[in-house]
Amino acid sequence: TGASSGDYIDNDLAQANAISWRAPYQGGKILRDQINRQEVEYVDMHLSHVAQTVEAGFFGKVDVAVVEATHITSDGRVYLSASIGASPTWLACADKVIIELNHCHSPRLSEMADIFIMPPPPIRSPINVHNPLTKIGFPYAHVDPKKVVGIVENDEPDQVVAFSQEDETSRKIADNVIEFLLNEKLAGRIPSEFFPLQAGVGNTANAVLAGLGRHPDIPPFYMYSEVFQDSMMDLIDTGKLLGASATSLTIVPEKLKQIGENMDFYNRKIVLRPQEISNHPGIIRRLGVVAMNTALEIDIYGNVNSSHVMGTHVMNGVGGSGEFARNSHLSIFMTPSIAKGGKISSVVPMVPHVDNNEHSVQVVVTEQGLADLRGLGPLERAEKIINTCAHPAYRPYLKDYVAQGHKNGH
Ligand code: COA
Repeated sequence: TGASSGDYIDNDLAQANAISWRAPYQGGKILRDQINRQEVEYVDMHLSHVAQTVEAGFFGKVDVAVVEATHITSDGRVYLSASIGASPTWLACADKVIIELNHCHSPRLSEMADIFIMPPPPIRSPINVHNPLTKIGFPYAHVDPKKVVGIVENDEPDQVVAFSQEDETSRKIADNVIEFLLNEKLAGRIPSEFFPLQAGVGNTANAVLAGLGRHPDIPPFYMYSEVFQDSMMDLIDTGKLLGASATSLTIVPEKLKQIGENMDFYNRKIVLRPQEISNHPGIIRRLGVVAMNTALEIDIYGNVNSSHVMGTHVMNGVGGSGEFARNSHLSIFMTPSIAKGGKISSVVPMVPHVDNNEHSVQVVVTEQGLADLRGLGPLERAEKIINTCAHPAYRPYLKDYVAQGHKNGH
């Protein structure tokens, strides 16, 4: 897959024990449990790596691809639906292709698509995306018609579950992020027209976006992000979000319908790209994206674990967090300071699994406060994170760890 897919794909296939190997990301409970029981092999990957990994043959041959579309022509143009993801690559690389023509989607969804396939290395030109909404490709992907062994028609909507309501914790995290961004703007480190934002997946990121949208002092902004989530749609409707680049519309069916019915408005505000481009390190760096991703836990040096509970049990995966965090202008990680009703501290001495290391993390935020780590050495970071981000109940343990652990050395 490109990343996670709906329950009727992931859950149904998992329930039928039909998955033996999975990459690059997943987000479903049944499949997750199978992976953690080691019944399914899971390769957790940066999402922008998927296309070139497959094209280069690192994973071997792709036998069959199943790709959802709104339309296919006899000369092999495939108009994709709510997600571009890695579909253009599957269409190009698979021996056989099955197209699922989903009539539930507006045929006009492809007006947002911008499909650009990079030639193989080493001779590649710069990717000419200079603004989140620049289009450089075609509204359709391509398949050799001889490879299409079947077209299956259906009219089932996507299954996207709405995020949980903002709670006090996510609101406080949002307030801390907003205050920080406003101070950066006041200090002249963020220009008045703002930088494009990226927001990770999950309840916390969704709440932060909603908070940014409501704040009167945050100017209208663009997003260069991976998934287009529910809260972004609300921001477009209020005019706060000027436009967004993403690889898929991961929004509830009512909102997807609203887009289809008002395409003359939304097709100027949203661009859907292959994930190799939506998450491309060079473009993220060029545009000066401010990356806001979520951690399961952070350690006192700023290393981040977003994927493996206790270091062993996968939650979802690294997703696009690595490419955005490493290449952004400013990289922010957010997490509630405690999990499981306070039985677990999300600020720990050392994370047991590292998705994003201290070199890619500049700011960490919990509902307790925000630690700006720029320019701080390891012990300064530890002090700052413990005193501002850790839950007060866990601060003495963490301070004790630092006192005992750091007799000397860097
Ligand atoms: N230890 C153990 N469990 C923890 C934990 C910790 N430190 N912190 C959170 N959890 C559990 C929560 O209790 C919850 O469990 P539940 O499902 O049994 O209720 C679960 O993890 C999810 O936590 P929640 O607070 O609902 O997080 P979220 O919806 O904001 O998602 C991530 C957080 C990290 C799971 C999610 O952002 C993610 O998968 N990130 C990685 C991919 C990514 O960043 N993509 C961005 C691409 S652009």
